Amino acid sequence: MLDSSCGRASDIALPWPVWAWPAALDAYDAAMMVELVTKPLVSLRNAGKIYKNGTVALAGLDLDVREGEFLTLLGPSGCGKSTILRLIAGLDSVSSGTLTRGLARDRASIGFVFQDPTLMPWASVFDNVFLGLRLQGISRRDAAPVVNEVLALVGLGAEATAFPRELSGGMRMRVSIARALVLHPPLLLMDEPFAALDETTRFKLNDDLLTLHGELATTIVFVTHSVYESVYLSHRIAVMAARPGRIIEEIAISAPSPRAKNFRTSTAYANFCAQASLALQGAMDEVLK
Ligand SMILES: Nc1ncnc2c1ncn2[C@@H]1O[C@H](COP(=O)(O)OP(=O)(O)OP(=O)(O)O)[C@@H](O)[C@H]1O
Ligand SMILES: [Mg+2]
Repeated sequence: MLDSSCGRASDIALPWPVWAWPAALDAYDAAMMVELVTKPLVSLRNAGKIYKNGTVALAGLDLDVREGEFLTLLGPSGCGKSTILRLIAGLDSVSSGTLTRGLARDRASIGFVFQDPTLMPWASVFDNVFLGLRLQGISRRDAAPVVNEVLALVGLGAEATAFPRELSGGMRMRVSIARALVLHPPLLLMDEPFAALDETTRFKLNDDLLTLHGELATTIVFVTHSVYESVYLSHRIAVMAARPGRIIEEIAISAPSPRAKNFRTSTAYANFCAQASLALQGAMDEVLK
């Protein structure tokens, strides 16, 4: 049971042996234990970002990304969610304060999935996913088992030879996720990856993403505008307000992960959604002031 909690419980140095954990420890407790004993992968302290045109995108931001967690940034448009992901990825730098990373800042360490899958239209699904390995100088032949394994993981094992135009929106997004996962990044950044999809596809991809998170032991920082999606996916939600972008509330989602079948219809889910909605409403009210 412990091994399925968040995929890391058995691989990290714990201050006491696993056999000594209480027998009743459930998956959620195990995830919380991991949180307590691991150092942050990324820490932002009093971080600010001012763009060249003078826009103050972020101010006084304190945020830790803890190894193994599923952290969601939830907030209104323009509050700096994408800016935070770009800073974490090293695509941009803080204007003030500090950002420290406990992992290398290269393509293999940090995967990035954007809202738009941006696939190469002339290349097959296999070749789109192979790209990252090709750029590392790995031959097609050597890469094939890895690419095929990742395609199977995202449910596209039978689509390797298809072209992007032949896929549905949800399938294209799966290719985009596979492209990021093929390098086995310890940290995966996802910027509203499911925003353009219909609700049924989105629900399915939410479940698949949680399964992947458990299986691959990857830390995920996820951005969404959806309260429901944030509660369903996350261990922790950082609710943000705009002008300047900052975190106004952190909400721990203390529900077993992976989610139970009836979680979306449970009272606990409704209560967490109400809490996140209220926080988001607070963020919107601040913008309107
Ligand atoms: N390259 C840039 N140059 C100048 N201003 C920028 C730049 N990128 C973002 N901004 C501004 O910084 C602020 C935060 O932008 P960001 O894209 O991080 O917000 P967001 O929370 O991701 O919004 P959305 O939900 O709409 O994607 C906004 O006011 C935006 O206009
Ligand atoms: Mg954005």
